[in-house]
Amino acid sequence: MNRLEVQVWRGGAEGAFQRFEVPRRESQTVLDVVTYIQRMLDPTLAYRFACRVGMCGSCAMTVNGKARWTCRTHVDSVVQESKEITIAPLRNLPVIRDLVSDMREFFDKWSRARGYFEGDRTRRDDFAPISCEDKNRKEIDAAIECIGCAVCYASCDVVSWNPDYLGPAALNRAWTLTRDQRDRKRIERLRAVAGDAGCHSCHSHMSCTERCPKRISPTAGIAALKREASLAALKKSL
Ligand code: SF4
Ligand code: SF4
Ligand code: FES
Repeated sequence: MNRLEVQVWRGGAEGAFQRFEVPRRESQTVLDVVTYIQRMLDPTLAYRFACRVGMCGSCAMTVNGKARWTCRTHVDSVVQESKEITIAPLRNLPVIRDLVSDMREFFDKWSRARGYFEGDRTRRDDFAPISCEDKNRKEIDAAIECIGCAVCYASCDVVSWNPDYLGPAALNRAWTLTRDQRDRKRIERLRAVAGDAGCHSCHSHMSCTERCPKRISPTAGIAALKREASLAALKKSL
């Protein structure tokens, strides 16, 4: 039978790779490989997934050196001539165990970037309809599809150099909210992202944009945030 050699990270930050052999199957995804190992070879292997269809963002891992969503990554696309595949936890986040990263820092940074909607309507008010033709809405339509997988965060060198940096996903989310006419905290949000660890630290190298499985461009959103924060500073609003 056609077999695949798989090196899988085991343990915490001081762990090591362990080798497994897994049967090759048609249309096999990297998540299928990890699941096979856990079910058939070593039930102690820790990993995370939920939806298996590219919706929840929980299955991201480092596969052959690059961050990817494993449920939508086919083995064929990462294994060319060699029959080997290396699977490790996401970079730039602490490792809990095996393939499971600690996501707290990632989501804490969303909060630090005020990546949450702050309107002024109550549940007793009517909906605030926003036309599909609205210019701001069109601009962020793609960016609001973020699934919080942290692939961009794990691919960002600035996060590696400066662990305080808010990172592409949190800044992308903050940018979408500055374009939401129902939100009431635009200036406060710009203030939250304009500091040393915010949008001005981005080097625009686009690794986040190249790797994002939802084809979002955090780089473009961050560039827009830089412009808005600078304009607000010139107007002395920050
Ligand atoms: S473009 Fe900015 S946020 Fe994206 S990977 Fe590069 S430095 Fe990080
Ligand atoms: S911007 Fe893309 S890569 Fe980053 S968390 Fe959202 S979906 Fe994942
Ligand atoms: S398991 Fe939900 S996105 Fe992969």
